[in-house]
Amino acid sequence: MSNMSRIQIAPSILAADFTRLGEQISQLDALGIETYHFDVMDGHFVPNISMGIPVLEALRSITKARLDVHLMVSEPERYIQAFANAGADIISIHWEATPNVHRALQMIREAGCKVGLAVNPHTPAFVLRDVITMLDLINVMTVNPGFGGQTFIPSVASKIARLRAMVGDVRQDIDIEADGGVGTETAQSVIQAGANVLVIGTAIFRHPEGLAAGLRAIQQVLASEIV
Ligand code: DX5
Ligand code: ZN
Repeated sequence: MSNMSRIQIAPSILAADFTRLGEQISQLDALGIETYHFDVMDGHFVPNISMGIPVLEALRSITKARLDVHLMVSEPERYIQAFANAGADIISIHWEATPNVHRALQMIREAGCKVGLAVNPHTPAFVLRDVITMLDLINVMTVNPGFGGQTFIPSVASKIARLRAMVGDVRQDIDIEADGGVGTETAQSVIQAGANVLVIGTAIFRHPEGLAAGLRAIQQVLASEIV
């Protein structure tokens, strides 16, 4: 059986051509994309600054797809409501970004969004144990957060497998997302470990033959994946 149906591809807007963002989103919408990943960086939690609320609002106005907002910001509690108002469907905060993870997760739920928690490559799986039942999504960073186009860190696959087992123990329907350096060479290892959402920036948007070819190349890998 093919894995294609149970694996979601979430293109990462960070790698888009911002001079043609609307056009690229329409193109991907037409190719059946149902989730976009939106990276917010504050120059403090991570050493880079990306995009924020006005860009999310613009995106919300042009697509019906799910918007998966990844907050790579310190004290994310300060911004949850604003991103929910701007059109986020899912908000992920980082475990490393606040001492009040539980409160921040509650705030996401109260704001009416799906609840996500992201973990850096060095953060062990077990720290999620006492909040796992609050989650709809776990974002496992497969690069250090802060930049697109980085090299996938292979050792993170075993953490994905541990998290998939933890999710199975609480018998909840929680998505596990692999984020960073995912492409045709690395998709298979994260899927085999138990990820079911692939965040893909560079491999789609920067494909030498264009984003449709980039998406097709990933879909071919998924189609050939045997369970
Ligand atoms: C990295 C971001 C990723 C990034 C993925 O800090 O969280 O979402 O955009 O992009 P690629 O696929 O280029 O690694
Ligand atoms: Zn991300």
